[in-house]
Amino acid sequence: MSVDVEQFLERMTWEQKLLQLQIVWRTDAAERDDLVRRGLGATFWPPSAADVNALQRIAVEQTEPGIPVLIGLDVVHGQFTIFPTPLAQAASFDPQVAAEDARISAVEARSNGVTWTFSPMVDVTRDPRWGRVVEGFGEDVHLASAFTAAKVAGYQGADLAAPDSVAACLKHFVAYGAAEAGRDYNTTDVSDRRLRETYLETFRVGVANGAAAVMASFNSLNGHPMHAHRALLTDVLKQEWGFDGVVVGDADGVAQLVDHGVAADERAAIALALEAGVDVVMGGSLLVDADGTALLTPADVSPDRIDDAVRRVLRMKDRLGLFENPYTDAAAAVGGSPEHRARARRAAERCAVLLTNGGALPLPASGRILLAGPYARSRDHLGAWVQHFASPVGETLADALERELPDIAWDVADGADFFELADEHLADIVERAASADLVVLALGEPSRLSGEAASRADIALPGAQRRLIHALADAGARIVVVLATGRPLVVEDWIDRVDASLCTWHLGTEAPAAIAATLSARVNPGGRVPMTFPRAVGQVPIHHDHERTGRPPRTGGELLRGIDAVASDAADLAGPNNTDDHYTSKFLDLPLGARFDFGHGLSYTTFALDGLAVTPGAVGMDTLDAGVDVHVTVRNTGERDGDDVVMLFVTDEVASVTQPVRRLRGFRRVSLAAGEPAAVAFRLTADDLSFWVDGATRVVEPGDFALTVGDGTSSLTARLRVEASR
Ligand code: BGC
Repeated sequence: MSVDVEQFLERMTWEQKLLQLQIVWRTDAAERDDLVRRGLGATFWPPSAADVNALQRIAVEQTEPGIPVLIGLDVVHGQFTIFPTPLAQAASFDPQVAAEDARISAVEARSNGVTWTFSPMVDVTRDPRWGRVVEGFGEDVHLASAFTAAKVAGYQGADLAAPDSVAACLKHFVAYGAAEAGRDYNTTDVSDRRLRETYLETFRVGVANGAAAVMASFNSLNGHPMHAHRALLTDVLKQEWGFDGVVVGDADGVAQLVDHGVAADERAAIALALEAGVDVVMGGSLLVDADGTALLTPADVSPDRIDDAVRRVLRMKDRLGLFENPYTDAAAAVGGSPEHRARARRAAERCAVLLTNGGALPLPASGRILLAGPYARSRDHLGAWVQHFASPVGETLADALERELPDIAWDVADGADFFELADEHLADIVERAASADLVVLALGEPSRLSGEAASRADIALPGAQRRLIHALADAGARIVVVLATGRPLVVEDWIDRVDASLCTWHLGTEAPAAIAATLSARVNPGGRVPMTFPRAVGQVPIHHDHERTGRPPRTGGELLRGIDAVASDAADLAGPNNTDDHYTSKFLDLPLGARFDFGHGLSYTTFALDGLAVTPGAVGMDTLDAGVDVHVTVRNTGERDGDDVVMLFVTDEVASVTQPVRRLRGFRRVSLAAGEPAAVAFRLTADDLSFWVDGATRVVEPGDFALTVGDGTSSLTARLRVEASR
């Protein structure tokens, strides 16, 4: 610490303290200057290093007590150089991708004066209708926790005061991803056990990894709007976990306690939120108005609570080194650079998932290919959380493919729209397809269909894009679909009609080059689905680690024909489709299971797993802390170099509380040359075998555990026995 925070507290007035507890976004420069001159503690990025310095000068030189201002900004997957969306990053199953994004983000942000990013979003997401799934790391707690830790480390570096570090903010605390019906901002109701097991866990990991801040979420949880949830904000986050950083409200989230109906007016809402544990209010009415009158008195919020909140804010400013040097070297500000773009491209090359491949990919080096669909020429690859200053996508997919595969005779069908498709346009594409060897359809959601306030009730390909696929398939074309999306989509009606499909998500500034390299096989796709693709919206929420039921469908993965087919074709009533077993947990009108499970993803090569060994195979509770080693060999059995993702799942076979069918407990992305084997090792600890009994106790129970090691294509299982004592 370079300053004595207590000394500041002693000399600050009540009004000066309140002003430290608010962040406002004002785009009018004069208004913003004026607020800072009055002592405002934080604002959004102005937006240049020189503007930040001017604001800091006002804060330090023209206010009493002269406290530098925090500069906040959502740098979620890049400020200038845009990396793949967080969901796409999770598909890489390589936390290094997230660390790299956060590092470049921190360099660009801090050098331009940003000190506080509102990222990472660590909400576990199991409902693809919710548009914000694109901002997080998918459905799995273990995967999302690893990405959370990587992202925090990347943003904050070893020292927050370094000129290339920014304070990270875990958001949105908590259970925001459980919004009923996937409708943004909607109510959540979650058991204590699931809260601990799933929704709190990523935050716990982020806090343990030193995240400087946490943002409260918009939802109410079990009847309590999160901005007023004292039991979670204060008792769990601050006391149980020892979080000594800043809790910030979400945009106008404090004022919205009035809309939630738990506060009569905004004044009461602010008092409620501060007492519950929010330290900094984002937006809303000013806590101290223009004539210096405070909105709250010490009778509304206890002075001790206010002091605690101010202490947290000042401590964060101190850790950022702002008291020592509030200024940034404007001459050294870094925007997008060729080096950053190259690193964003390498990240983008790791995220695409080969969903299906009947042999149409990789593309041939010569021949005639028709490229059609909205993403043939659209530059809308950046993804949901970008702002007007982001580096634009330079080239289109058509440009990149022409460069990547110059010996192909490319025919590019222009003018496709994400939503409309005129009959003449469709007819023209079908006609041109007749003289091509192959059609590449570049389809998907434009970036604005995911992100905040972008929930969709129907998560099919938008607009008329499915018509395009069906018309070409009807005409007998060989089709490769490139699917750029912000969420898992329902692809059921067309996926079996195309010859290959590559899910690219939104890959950021370098998307076209990365996609072209993947289609040509210069890059072998190694991504895996981080969020289950359902067969129908009716299946959501859906996730691979669901709990066991009393009546599981017994032929998991087998086809139960559509209800119309069942009614009209008696032969389908028998056999593997499980209809004999009527009273089981399934949908009558859907095949069993998901379309693409968590962890699914193909490659241009093949892999085989063998030699699964668990040592020791039996262990006593008293020696569990020493860990259990799981070894397996993965071999590239094909003719191309490529990456496999080896995953370790644990199933607790009998427990006092119903357990998930499996839980991911380890994963490793391995790069293997053609024919090359590699040994992969995981260490399981007591933590990996434990579960929450209720909201308060975490236990390991002796008994048998099935350990499954798989790569999304094949798997091996072994058993671990945990004995009460040995
Ligand atoms: C979003 C947050 C974001 C904040 C500030 C809100 O609407 O929910 O994720 O950090 O705006 O931009």
